[in-house]
Amino acid sequence: MKIGIVGGTGDIGEGMTLRLSPKHDVIVGSREEAKAIATCDTCREALHERDQECSLIGGSNQRAVDEADIVILAIPFKHVIPILKALTGFEGKIVVSPVNPIERTTHFSYAPPPEGSAAMMIKGLLPPDATVCAAFNNIAAEKWRALDEELDYSVAVCCDDDSAKHTVMEIVNSVSRLRAYDAGPLRAASVVESVTPLLLNIARFNRLKDVGIRFV
Ligand SMILES: NC(=O)c1ccc[n+]([C@@H]2O[C@H](COP(=O)([O-])OP(=O)(O)OC[C@H]3O[C@@H](n4cnc5c(N)ncnc54)[C@H](OP(=O)(O)O)[C@@H]3O)[C@@H](O)[C@H]2O)c1
Repeated sequence: MKIGIVGGTGDIGEGMTLRLSPKHDVIVGSREEAKAIATCDTCREALHERDQECSLIGGSNQRAVDEADIVILAIPFKHVIPILKALTGFEGKIVVSPVNPIERTTHFSYAPPPEGSAAMMIKGLLPPDATVCAAFNNIAAEKWRALDEELDYSVAVCCDDDSAKHTVMEIVNSVSRLRAYDAGPLRAASVVESVTPLLLNIARFNRLKDVGIRFV
């Protein structure tokens, strides 16, 4: 399974690269190819130190789209529209959104676009035959990066296409102790995205770090 990560140099992108590249072929995308290659070098070194083989290459965001079957949009909400407008070739691809539209004042709050969620907005920006799934919205980047710890969390997956949802759930279940749960159609993604500001507020006001969720 070839997975392209647009914005793969960022906090969550690097963490996902570390966890996914031992199991799948990962293409790390960036606006700057050199930055993507540097992220790959860092990840490869960290994995080799732990005797883990990996498959990863760095390139442009466009290459991450072109060469992948599944594209993860690891980019801040405020940059989604310009980044997607600059990219082509999403036809027939599965596009995974971990994107959370969040505002910060004295606390964190959910600030969705008029479409209802980041995932629904992204669906509207892509060709009709691209399949958008919301997933990985509620896991902190630091946890992805902490390679010596298990990722023992639940991952809610929303998608309108059963086959694409199944594929994304298999990817989730291939990572550490992550467990995928079917969270309904894409229009339910607002529920999943809005959990993240709750987790951030719980962390902030209770002096906790990297709070996550596990369904039992
Ligand atoms: N961080 C978390 O703990 C976490 C947890 C769950 C979900 N998420 C979601 O995951 C997404 C990524 O979060 P993140 O914290 O990883 O983001 P980030 O580190 O701030 O940024 C990710 C990447 O976006 C690209 N980028 C930054 N500014 C840009 C601009 N002006 N124009 C175009 N591209 C730009 C950069 O890649 P290049 O410079 O290489 O192009 C950057 O490495 C967000 O939507 C967030 O809601 C994050």
